[in-house]
Amino acid sequence: MCGIVGYVGLRDTLGIVVSGLHRLEYRGYDSAGIALCVPGKRQISVVKTPGKISDLETLIAAKLVSDADRTAPIGIGHTRWATHGLPNEANAHPHLSMNGEIAVVHNGIVENYAAIKQRLTQQGYKFSSDTDTEVIAHLIQECYQGDLRSAVATALKKLEGTYGIAVVSSRHPDTLVAARKGSPIAVGICEDETLVASDISAIVNYTKQVIFLDDGDLLTAKAGDVDITSSKNVPVTRPPTFVDWDVGQIEKGGYEHFMLKEIHEQPQAISYAIRGRLLPDEGTTKLSGMQMDPREMARIDRISIAACGTSFYAGMVGKYYFEDFASIPTEIEQAAEFRYRNPIIQRDTCMLAISQSGETADTLAAVREAKRKGSMVLGICNVVGSTIARESGRGVYLHAGPEIGVASTKAFTCQVAVLAMMAIAFGRTRRLSTSDGAEMVKAISRLPDIARRTLEQEDAIRRVAEKYADCEDFFYIGRGYMFPAALEGALKLKEISYIHAEGYHAAELKHGPIALLQKEVPVVATVADIAGKEKTLSNMQECRARSAPVIAIATEGDDSVNAVSEEVIRVPKCPDFLSPVPVVIAEQIFAYHMARLRGCPIDQPRNLAKSVTVE
Ligand code: G6P
Repeated sequence: MCGIVGYVGLRDTLGIVVSGLHRLEYRGYDSAGIALCVPGKRQISVVKTPGKISDLETLIAAKLVSDADRTAPIGIGHTRWATHGLPNEANAHPHLSMNGEIAVVHNGIVENYAAIKQRLTQQGYKFSSDTDTEVIAHLIQECYQGDLRSAVATALKKLEGTYGIAVVSSRHPDTLVAARKGSPIAVGICEDETLVASDISAIVNYTKQVIFLDDGDLLTAKAGDVDITSSKNVPVTRPPTFVDWDVGQIEKGGYEHFMLKEIHEQPQAISYAIRGRLLPDEGTTKLSGMQMDPREMARIDRISIAACGTSFYAGMVGKYYFEDFASIPTEIEQAAEFRYRNPIIQRDTCMLAISQSGETADTLAAVREAKRKGSMVLGICNVVGSTIARESGRGVYLHAGPEIGVASTKAFTCQVAVLAMMAIAFGRTRRLSTSDGAEMVKAISRLPDIARRTLEQEDAIRRVAEKYADCEDFFYIGRGYMFPAALEGALKLKEISYIHAEGYHAAELKHGPIALLQKEVPVVATVADIAGKEKTLSNMQECRARSAPVIAIATEGDDSVNAVSEEVIRVPKCPDFLSPVPVVIAEQIFAYHMARLRGCPIDQPRNLAKSVTVE
């Protein structure tokens, strides 16, 4: 979704802002723009356009011809994912105040913008866009009395909704003001320059020392100097977080797409996720971030999981783990439903919030609701320092490394590994024996190898994709541990190839969807060699009886699928509970090649955003 980058310093401001925008491209956007303050010039130079950053660069080359523009000491940039108004030039950010002296970029939604717009219009302010953001620029102009920071602070008090903003003014070409309420802003600390971004990938190649603003914080940044005050106007001193990312991790490293790179990174990502956390001798796991001793764990009598998208499907696998290994009744809900449904949180309920980005608006709201109801909350996040990770207070990081491709891949397999480790730890405070725990822990230690061997099937999977790349409808079916895997497989295919795909429990197919089966509608049947497989084999027969081609994803050496499938994709055999990992990796590869064969923009699928920061 929308992205912000800002720079104050003496280097190539334009180049740094544009390169930051390139790093934000993965989040999904439909237009982009930049603003530069040139000393001595009252009008801020703004260039913006619908389309890609490459379109913006062409326009910049044509419009910003003076050296003064190009070497401005301060600049901001934005990638927009349309909410209010079409993705066109007028609606793209930055937005200027009416006098052209203040520029604003904004992530989030101003909920009372219509009333503010009406009032400002009556006072003679002219609006040139349909956005909610433009009111912020005019409000700051209205509140300005010589001090940019106070003007922003006063203007923000009039806003309802959410924001992460960065503001510059031509009257203060050495000062960038930023603020956060519900939408992240991070500040990169350097010796003689300062960077601001909504997502650390935009700035991590300049600095690894980052301060994350909290809700209500107001930042005044000058070159190499930052000043933060809280919502109560109290100075904030917060030590920087060290971001343990290396720039290579946010580059493609020779792969054609980030998604393919991240699919291939899974053996390593899983090994990072489990490193130091398995205790085979004690038949358990050690997840220090949970900060729970066995007595506290034993007291938990209910688990409630909230998540969205791919994280939700990982959570479904987690539900089976907590019930199978620890006999803890576990429910899972889409975070958007959790937050508004008035869920029942009892004293010994533990809420798990699963989010790769740690910024998904609905999951964050679910965390806050659970905390308000007195629940203990554990975050399972990938991005270190993200809002959900910080607000949960405790939890488990995936350590999967940055995930850039919009379609989540390595986060899913690492989430499954983390959930399995958590459930074993809970199970060991209950009926799970040392020997059973030890078996499971040893199986988890072999997961990177299982992932690696699944990747070896890529050529075979691509050949299957070549046969079916023209189909417009797919069903995915599975049962037990394969049910969430089927749902995730269908999600991957629709996200990046735009093929209509639906995931169903194999038994549910008969209750409606079977009416749609015909020879142009393939069914991907996930049939790892686990309990319930025989029943899925019957369901596959039923599909074939309706002429639907069946593509099985089955375990190496399992010949029972041969007679009931047109195609068989093989995955390595592993214990039942880990089978979602190889099966989903095979589905990721299949979706990737389907999308590639259809010429789809794999890393930036239309309308999708990497991190959904609005409801
Ligand atoms: C978006 C992304 C998905 C992701 C979902 C949840 O829809 O496109 O890939 O699964 O958000 O994101 P989270 O960061 O909370 O896991």
